[in-house]
Amino acid sequence: MTTALITGATAGIGAAFARRLASSGYHLVLAARDTERLWREATELHDRHGVEADVITSDLATDDGIAAVEERLRDTAHPVDLLVNNAGFGNKGRYLEVGLADELAMLRVHCEAVLRLTSAATASMRERGRGGVVNVASVAAFFPRGTYGASKAWVTQFTQGAAKDLAGQGVRLLALCPGFVRTEFHERAGMGTGNIPRWMWLDADKVVETALRDLARGRSLSIPDPRYKALLGASRLIPQGVLGRVSSTTGRKFGPQ
Ligand SMILES: NC(=O)c1ccc[n+]([C@@H]2O[C@H](COP(=O)([O-])OP(=O)(O)OC[C@H]3O[C@@H](n4cnc5c(N)ncnc54)[C@H](OP(=O)(O)O)[C@@H]3O)[C@@H](O)[C@H]2O)c1
Repeated sequence: MTTALITGATAGIGAAFARRLASSGYHLVLAARDTERLWREATELHDRHGVEADVITSDLATDDGIAAVEERLRDTAHPVDLLVNNAGFGNKGRYLEVGLADELAMLRVHCEAVLRLTSAATASMRERGRGGVVNVASVAAFFPRGTYGASKAWVTQFTQGAAKDLAGQGVRLLALCPGFVRTEFHERAGMGTGNIPRWMWLDADKVVETALRDLARGRSLSIPDPRYKALLGASRLIPQGVLGRVSSTTGRKFGPQ
């Protein structure tokens, strides 16, 4: 049997990964901060699909939280075959409106945790000659969008680079770059979504389906949905100044919904 470990598994894209992988027979290790919610989800997936589902309560903005997940990934008696580094969040405001501690917490969750967990997982996957890692970045990786966009650009570059470095050794890495997905993300970040056109919204289950298909095909970058592929292609033709202005405003309206 195969085992998948998913961070940020209690909501949105992470929960969609958990549902999809459980339905394919993966045993699960679910990580997030809310223990009660983790166990509720683990029990439901176990009951529905008959898979084993364990949980790790961990705050990936802390050293202890990252270390707890690293330890599980290094447990050679219970190997993890697929790691999904999905936990993430948006801060409530633009640059200088957000405190430095919150910016640093974002870098820790989006970059340090992804680096450390990917390293812990791939080291043992390489020894076994098989395994996969999906690092959830964002289409924001390709646009100027504060610390959030910059951190997701790091995830994308790091993942594609590591995929090349480990090529031919049985370990696959994929950077997943979705556009706007209907999850708890925007509400948690206090972002108004009124100015995001309807066509830009993606469904979490479809995003996950595309990611797993691209991973199976050996790709290192997944941009779900042809509309976003076209948008990225077109963005290369738009002057940087205009692009920066549009990208720093679309979906970045903070305050009451
Ligand atoms: N929604 C979008 O439009 C969109 C677009 C592109 C990329 N993404 C990326 O997709 C990923 C998932 O986002 P989502 O939209 O599914 O958001 P979501 O619905 O808000 O879910 C976020 C998940 O991450 C966990 N989490 C947050 N902070 C954490 C921390 N410090 N330590 C451990 N777990 C933490 C949350 O659980 P707890 O609160 O219990 O910890 C929750 O399970 C993120 O990396 C996000 O940047 C989202």
